[in-house]
Amino acid sequence: MSQPAQSYADFYRHSIEQPDAFWAEQAGLIDWFSAPQRVCNWDNPPFAQWFEGGKLNLCHNALDRHLKQRAQQSALIAVSTETGSERVYSFEQLHAEVQRMAAVLLALGVVKGDRVLIYMPMIAEAAFAMLACARIGAIHCVVFGGFASGSLASRIEDAEPKLIVSADGGSRGGKAIAYKPLLDEAIRLSSHQPQAVLLADRGLATMDLVPGRDHLWAQLREQHLNTPVACESMDSTDISYTIYTSGTTGKPKGVQRDTGGYAVALAASMKHIFDGRAGETYFSTSDIGWVVGHSYIIYGPLIAGMATIMYEGLPTQGLDGQPNGAIWWQLVEKYKVTAMFSAPTAVRVLKKQDPALLKKHDLSSLRALFLAGEPLDEPTARWISEGLQVPIIDNYWQTESGWPILTLANAVEPKEPRFGSPGIAMYGYKVKLLHEATGEELTEPNQKGVVCIEGPTPPGFMQTVWRDDARYLKTYWQSVPGKMVYSTFDWGIRDADGYFFILGRTDDVINVAGHRLGTREIEESISGHPMVAEVAVVGVADQLKGQVAMAFAVLKDASLAGDAQASMKLEGEIMKRVDGDLGAVARPARVRFVTVLPKTRSGKLLRRAIQAVCEGRDPGDLTTLDDASSLEQIRQRLAS
Ligand code: PRX
Repeated sequence: MSQPAQSYADFYRHSIEQPDAFWAEQAGLIDWFSAPQRVCNWDNPPFAQWFEGGKLNLCHNALDRHLKQRAQQSALIAVSTETGSERVYSFEQLHAEVQRMAAVLLALGVVKGDRVLIYMPMIAEAAFAMLACARIGAIHCVVFGGFASGSLASRIEDAEPKLIVSADGGSRGGKAIAYKPLLDEAIRLSSHQPQAVLLADRGLATMDLVPGRDHLWAQLREQHLNTPVACESMDSTDISYTIYTSGTTGKPKGVQRDTGGYAVALAASMKHIFDGRAGETYFSTSDIGWVVGHSYIIYGPLIAGMATIMYEGLPTQGLDGQPNGAIWWQLVEKYKVTAMFSAPTAVRVLKKQDPALLKKHDLSSLRALFLAGEPLDEPTARWISEGLQVPIIDNYWQTESGWPILTLANAVEPKEPRFGSPGIAMYGYKVKLLHEATGEELTEPNQKGVVCIEGPTPPGFMQTVWRDDARYLKTYWQSVPGKMVYSTFDWGIRDADGYFFILGRTDDVINVAGHRLGTREIEESISGHPMVAEVAVVGVADQLKGQVAMAFAVLKDASLAGDAQASMKLEGEIMKRVDGDLGAVARPARVRFVTVLPKTRSGKLLRRAIQAVCEGRDPGDLTTLDDASSLEQIRQRLAS
């Protein structure tokens, strides 16, 4: 479709100066059962309500409305190089499967507004479950399949799901990971008990079913092969889902999203940013456990009428189970992918492979590669840009925002990317750089400040923290002195042309291989070890993963800190503990034992100084000699 010729600057200005007119126009990109009465309600800041009075359904927009034009076209392509399977569902077939899943959920007692927790590997059934929830108005809470019982239990407790959808297991690098025991343990740990558990059996691991509670998807599906389930008419402001994310405290936050604002935001981003056109194929290598998976594996591409690829497996293994560093490019060729979305960490993995692999397949369908989730370093950007010969579009956003805050809207007006910058402010976002201590706006180029967003936040942005408005307000909107603005907790600078550069987090969040983790959660897990008195976890720069977690622990019996054999044994025990509580993604790369940790006079851990020492940088001003000696100890332990 051809775009009206206009500059991005005009497009952006229109979104900021006439937001109601701008977003009313974007709202035309989706199907409404009844039209919205009011575009933006900002009467009770910072709680923006979008498209009040409008009625719609996300599943209808993702599936039903495409049936007339593209029933036979591919909608979901589920590829697993772990099990060597490829399943392709047309819009019609996906629509049928989602109705079956919806009928099963209803039969198991789920009604509109109930929570359904989804703890699944990257298989088609996970997509059925998400879309089925949307269809009947249940709120889905997808928990990343790489998380272990402790993380899962705290999410079950907070979400209070009526039902949990899971599977016998996942697989990584050919090794089956049994999910069911992890799930059973999480339910045991949780004070909330789900009424029912629905399980997909892939034949990867044996399952002990709890009578009366556990049900097999395959069996119930048979009973509902032809049960039609209509789309529930949802208010625009009704909750579509919650997704948990790490923050400054150990307790994960349920990021809550609406229905209408989200549908409009995704449809608009598919058009203006990703240039995804109906009938084409979109390939995001993310996981449904993350926000990218929600927005750009499931809802965004389907709303746009595209086929979407769901991929389970490593980027370096083929469908035959043999090493194959070109598997993603093979899929691009086979399914004529036009837009691809991945993370810098995945590209760094591919970079270790033979560069000839990039030339092995016909990639002429591909128009752009989008990368997000962590800073894109220049060597990685250059390598992939030269290899693919298509624009590499960095985009910066958060679980909270649901869609890009900074990037290039090349379908509005093509712009040259700048190495090291994710781009410029997207339409609808009033992005400001504020001074951390004074809250003063930094308007000169190249000043470093906290990246903030002035309200009202655009459609698609989180509504609040699930069941905790006070936490939403306090965490995000009251952290900059004297101003009610949303803080991203990222440092940034902006050049004279409006291109932003992101310089890392201002809080305790770290980014390991594109996974957002709270160091506090890891500290809490380690502190639970009976021999640990105190612990500090920091994120340390890593060539491949961006960052890795490093833990420094003080033991109750200080004499053990110098005992190499005891330390090694304890390190193993602690890593196992983190694996069990949070999952292997959160496991520290190393655990080192010290007799004291550096702290401020008020007792706050000097995490940034520890991080600096780990990265071989100058830790900066030290207030006491004690800090210097404790940091010296850390330096020595790192060398050992
Ligand atoms: O620190 C920023 C970093 O990842 C955080 C958000 O992570 P998450 O909630 O998992 O959402 C990821 C959605 C893509 C941000 O606060 N981050 C994300 N994208 C970029 C980035 N840092 C630098 N450049 C990016 N493109």
